[in-house]
Amino acid sequence: MKILAIETSCDETAIAILECEGDEKNARFTVLGNALFSQIEIHKEYGGVFPALAKREHAKNLVPILEAALEEAELLHEDTQTIPEEKHEKIATILSREPGLIEAFFAFIGECEPPPIDAIAVTTGPGLEPALWVGVNFAKALAVLWEKPLIAVNHMEGHLLAALASRKQISSQTDQSMFAIFDVRMPVLALLVSGGHTELVHMREWLTYELIGQTRDDAVGEAFDKVARMLGLPYPGGPEISRLAEIARETQRKNPYVLPRPMLHDATCDFSFAGLKTSVLYLLRDTLNIREEDKRYIAREFEDAVVDVLWGKTARALNMTDTQTLVIGGGVSANTHIRRVFTEKIKNEYPHITLCLSIDLLATDNAIMIAFAGFYHALRNNFSTPDSLTVNGNRSLA
Ligand code: KG4
Ligand code: ZN
Repeated sequence: MKILAIETSCDETAIAILECEGDEKNARFTVLGNALFSQIEIHKEYGGVFPALAKREHAKNLVPILEAALEEAELLHEDTQTIPEEKHEKIATILSREPGLIEAFFAFIGECEPPPIDAIAVTTGPGLEPALWVGVNFAKALAVLWEKPLIAVNHMEGHLLAALASRKQISSQTDQSMFAIFDVRMPVLALLVSGGHTELVHMREWLTYELIGQTRDDAVGEAFDKVARMLGLPYPGGPEISRLAEIARETQRKNPYVLPRPMLHDATCDFSFAGLKTSVLYLLRDTLNIREEDKRYIAREFEDAVVDVLWGKTARALNMTDTQTLVIGGGVSANTHIRRVFTEKIKNEYPHITLCLSIDLLATDNAIMIAFAGFYHALRNNFSTPDSLTVNGNRSLA
C-alpha cells in the first residue's frame, strides 16, 4: 500500500510517500518521494524552537513540500478539478484556523489530480501542539478531498521503528530508497532520546509498550541545546557540543572539569538532566577567562556525563528485562559518542543483544519514520476519520 506521511511536530516540515509491503515481522518500504524543510535557520535567532513561529512556517511550507514529494514520486499530475460545494465547505471549516495554509491549499488542489495513495499518516503527538495541529488539519483536509483514511501516528513510535529499519540489500547493492524491518528479536528495549523526550520503553511484542524509565525534568536533547547556548553555540546544540567534544577527545589530555552524573546510582531507570545543566551554568559562572579550549573540555565533560547516565540506566533496564534487541532512537541518537560507547558496551558486556541505531537520514525528525509507523497501524486497521483525529502534545507510548 502507498502511504503519504506528514510530520510537523517540531521544527521540520516533512512529507514522504512510501510503498509499503509485507507484514509486521517482515516489512519492506520503498521511498517514492521525500521532502523536508528544516526551520533551524529561522529558530536559530531565538536559540530554540519558538512554537508560534513553527506553526506559521509549517502553514507556509506544507503545500510546497507536498508538491515536492508528489513530484519526486511522479504522482503530481495537473488537472482542473472542481471541488463539490459540500466538500469545499468541509475543508474550509477544517482549515479555518490555519491562515496562510487555506489559500495555498485551495490554489494547489484545484489543479492536482488525486494521487493513487491508500492512506494518510500524520503525527498527532507528542510535540508542540500548535505545530502538530497544522499538520493534522492539513492531513484531514487531504483526507476529505481525496476520500482516504487517516492514521494517527505517535512521533516516538516513528523514532523507534526508524531505528529498527535497515537499508534493504538488493543483490550486492544497497538501494538508497529502500528500507526493511525484519528479523527483529523480541523483546526490544528502546532508548528514545530527543529534544522533548528521554525514555526507556520495553516492547515485548509489536506495538505493545511498557515505560521502564523517563526523565523527571529536562529531556537530554533539551539539555544539549541549553548547555550549547550557555557556551555561546548556535541552535540546535547537540551537533555543536558533539563537534567540540570530539576535538577535546583527540588531545587525550585529562579533562580539567568535572560534572555530576545525576541519578546514576539510584534504584530506578529514571533520568534527570536539569541538575547537570545547572552545574554547567555554575561552572561557567565561577570560572574566569573561559577560553575556546575550556569550552571544548566542558562540552566533552558534559557529553561524557550524559553518556555515562544514558548507558548506566540502559544497562539497569537490560538487567531487569529479557531484552534481545536494543534500539536507540530520536534526534540525540545521531550523537557520535553515544553511538560509539553503546556499540562498544554492547559488544563487550551484552554480546547476545543486537544493537540497532538509526541510519543517519532517519535519526532526526523526518516523515519516512511516520510512514513506517503508519504502515504498522494500517496492518491492524487502526484508521481514523477527519472527525475522530485529534492532537495530544503529551501523547505517550505506554
Ligand atoms: O528527534 P529530534 O530531531 O526532534 C524532536 O523530536 O525533538 O531531536 C532533536 C534534538 C535536539 O535537541 C538536538 O540538539 C539533538 O536532537 N541532536 C543531537 C545531535 N543531533 C541532534 N544531540 C546530540 N548529538 C547530536 N549529534
Ligand atoms: Zn523527534
